[in-house]
Amino acid sequence: MLPRSLLPIIGRLWLIVLLATHCIGKRKWEYEPLSIETYSTDESLLKMTARVDRIGRGEYAISAEIEFKYEPDENTMVEAVAYRSSSGEENDYKIIPLSIPKQNYVEFMNNNYKDVVIPNLGGCSNLVKFEDKFEPPWPKNTYKLEKCVADSDGFPDMVPEGYYKVNFTMSNPVDWGFVLIVKISTKFM
Ligand SMILES: *[C@@H]1O[C@H](CO)[C@@H](O)[C@H](O)[C@H]1NC(C)=O
Repeated sequence: MLPRSLLPIIGRLWLIVLLATHCIGKRKWEYEPLSIETYSTDESLLKMTARVDRIGRGEYAISAEIEFKYEPDENTMVEAVAYRSSSGEENDYKIIPLSIPKQNYVEFMNNNYKDVVIPNLGGCSNLVKFEDKFEPPWPKNTYKLEKCVADSDGFPDMVPEGYYKVNFTMSNPVDWGFVLIVKISTKFM
């Protein structure tokens, strides 16, 4: 069992999905994205491709393209589930307390999206930006993330070592999302 005090830290791990970065500021850990896989139950409504690029020694960036061909509505839900494995073996992953409990996408927009996605990915993408309150609808568009490296604060200083798998899903009317695996290690300076 993980100590209770770690829960808020782990709760923010889903960010790592979106924010391929490392070695910034006072962070005492670094991470290496190992893989990112996308899925969609209907590519005529939503198609996503993503990849991890190594952009330098121990530095990674995420690029992605999301073709949004539907308008999310009051039935559209967002959820992220995270797992940790100390060995990286597939059957070793255990679910960890999370992150993004299933919620309507507008709620997600006004919380995690506003606080984390905009500050970190706003500058390297054409994702929707807003300041005060999100006004639906989310526009249909092709959203592109170009070599995104997180450069914003807001990350925990300490994260337990290991392999982390995060599954981010949006559901209704199409179920789509991505599964990212990252390896986290302690940084020796
Ligand atoms: C990710 O979540 C989706 C939707 O719940 C599920 O269908 C899929 O099997 C999950 N993938 C992994 C690798 O956990």
